[in-house]
Parts: sequence; C-alpha cells; structure tokens
Amino acid sequence: MKVKTSARSVLKTALCARSARYALALIAVAFLAACQGEYPQNSLDPKTDFAETIHSLYVSVFWWSMVILALVWAVLAYIVIRFRERPDRPEPKQVHGHLGMEIAWTIGPALIVVAIAIPTIQAVFRTQIPPGEDANALVVEVVGHQYWWEFRYPDLGVTTANEMHLPVGRPITLKMSSVDVIHSFWVPQLGGKRDVNPLRRVPDGEEPRYTWLYFTINDDEEGTFLGQCAEFCGEAHSLMRTRVVAQSPAEFDAWVGNWLTPSVTASAPTVDAAAAQPAVQEDPLVTEGRNIFLLQSTCVACHSVRGTQAQGVIGPNLTRLGNRSTIGAGLLENTPENLFRWISAPHDVKPGARMPGAQVGGGGFPPTNLSDEQVRAIAAYLGSLR
Ligand code: CUA
Repeated sequence: MKVKTSARSVLKTALCARSARYALALIAVAFLAACQGEYPQNSLDPKTDFAETIHSLYVSVFWWSMVILALVWAVLAYIVIRFRERPDRPEPKQVHGHLGMEIAWTIGPALIVVAIAIPTIQAVFRTQIPPGEDANALVVEVVGHQYWWEFRYPDLGVTTANEMHLPVGRPITLKMSSVDVIHSFWVPQLGGKRDVNPLRRVPDGEEPRYTWLYFTINDDEEGTFLGQCAEFCGEAHSLMRTRVVAQSPAEFDAWVGNWLTPSVTASAPTVDAAAAQPAVQEDPLVTEGRNIFLLQSTCVACHSVRGTQAQGVIGPNLTRLGNRSTIGAGLLENTPENLFRWISAPHDVKPGARMPGAQVGGGGFPPTNLSDEQVRAIAAYLGSLR
C-alpha cells in the first residue's frame, strides 16, 4: 500500500488532541517558570539610567524581531497551505534564479542590520559619557583582586570591600582597575559589565588606562543589588561576588560618618582615670581577639582597621566589618560561626583564596597557626566592629 504524507495528514497529526494537550502543558510550565522565584541578578530589571538605556534597546530589538518572526511565519504558513500537495493538483511552478528575489533577500536583511545598528551605536556612546564637570558626581575607585572587590571613595576617605554603598539620585563615576589579572565588574541592575584591567606603566604625565562606568541610580530604587565577577580570573572566579547597597543620600552620609568614626571596640577602651578601669565594659573575648589581631598575629600585615595600628593594604579593609551582611566576597552570611570558618580555613569556603588559614597557608603566606580559641576571639573582635 502506498504511504501518503500529504500536508493535510501532517497537519492533522500535529493538531491531534493529544499533541495539543502536551503542547499546552509545556507552555503552562514555561509560563510558570517565568513567574517563579527571585532573580537578584536579573538584567531585565534596570535601576539606573545606564541599565535603562540597555534595557530599552533590548526590548525594542526584541519586539521588532517578533514582528519579523510573525511576518516570516505568516508567509511560510501561507505557502505551506496554498501549495500543499493534493491528488488532483499539478506541481506548482518551479523557480530557478530570480533577480528580484535575490535582491530582496539581500537588501532586506541588510536594512534590518542597519536598523538595529543605529540605536545600538547610540546606546554605546550614551553609556560612555562621563558626568563631566558635574561636581556632584561621586567617584568610587573599584579595584579587582583575586578574589574580592575593593571600593575606595577618594573624596570621602573611605575604603571598604565587597559591599559598595551608593546614594540614589546622584551621578556615580566608577574608576576601575585591578591589582592582578583582568576581572569584570558586573551588577546587572546597575548597568553593563565592564572589564577592570591591571594598570600598565604609562609615560610621565599620562593618566593610566582606567575603565569607567557612569550611572545614576533612580531616586526611588533603594535596595541591594547583587553582582558577580564576569571575566574568568582564576579558580575562585565564580565565587567573586559583590553587592551594592543603594541608599537615600541621608542614609549614605550616615554610613560614611559611621565608617569614619572608629568603632568603640576597635582599639583598647579608654581608662576612666578616677575608677582606674575601662570606661566601657566589653566582652572579654573581644578584648582577647583585639590583642591577638593587633599584637600577636600576622593579620595586620594585610588588613586595616580604622583607628588602630592595623594598616595593611593587601587584604580587604576590615573597618566596621560587623556592619557588612556577608564575608568572603558575598559567600557567607556574616555570623560569628562563619567568621570562625573563614578565618580558620578560608580555602574550604573559597578554593584559591589568597588568605592563609590556621593550618594551611595561602597566597604565598604561611599558615597563621592560630588555635581555635584564638580564631574564635578574633571573630568576636571583628564582629564587634560595628
Ligand atoms: Cu575576578 Cu573573575
């Protein structure tokens, strides 16, 4: 018997009730998946002028593509149905080489590419414009390290790590570089990703080649935005996270003021002369931790704490560490147990971390040889820096 595969029978099979049910179920799952969950690194949820420029370009190109898709499908469907095989119908006219059609399908796509290129190039230039003479712009120096982020505020005298605080509604200028390899700073809701490069020596009088990002966080968009290093930089690349805390200008100023004032427990409490004892009672574990951190360990070779003799610059600045929500560049919640874990064995949390652990060295440094008790005390001290 001759097997007939006419367009009609194919269509019939495709549309049979069972297939339709499967298709509907699939579509429903796709829709539900799209509605599910929180996506903190969602690049479709812009919070700055920069991110909105990219987003609106993306959305307009998407919808124009949909128009073209619909047109192509409509023509395709027309052809499939109009010229389908039927028993009493002769073969349709065959076309071999057609100048008009050749020109149409060369010029058509070329015009589409031009139509996409014009707004794209405009967006590229718009996102490269510095705030210029805007004296109000806040400059933050972003420095990539294997595997964490340093944020310096040169005009404010603040230096912090991994959690960048920014005011909403004020132009921000990120001046970016790296101390080791190429990283890429990317907080999707704030803007596009941009490489941070090691600075090469330049002739005297020339500015080193920083990379820059310029944006203003929308006035009503206070919140925390997560980011991730977006350029492979070594074994802990995927664990090099960051977060940006967008605050009202008043809250931001308070954060700066808080940072600039040394924590009560940062250095030894002042002694009340009359009573000959500390003016403030503090947890003995904190006292012990401070002594170990500042005087008996190698911590201060790499770390700084404002208001103390700890002035190391290789590792993250730990001033007011107790106020950060995470440690280890966004890997662990900032709790005493996690600080203990991190200080005793950072490589168990983040393979490749440059910090030496208690038993195992790291980043070319020998182990710290701190006992569990000592690590617990240091964790208490660092947690008290609020
Ligand atoms: Cu830093 Cu990847």
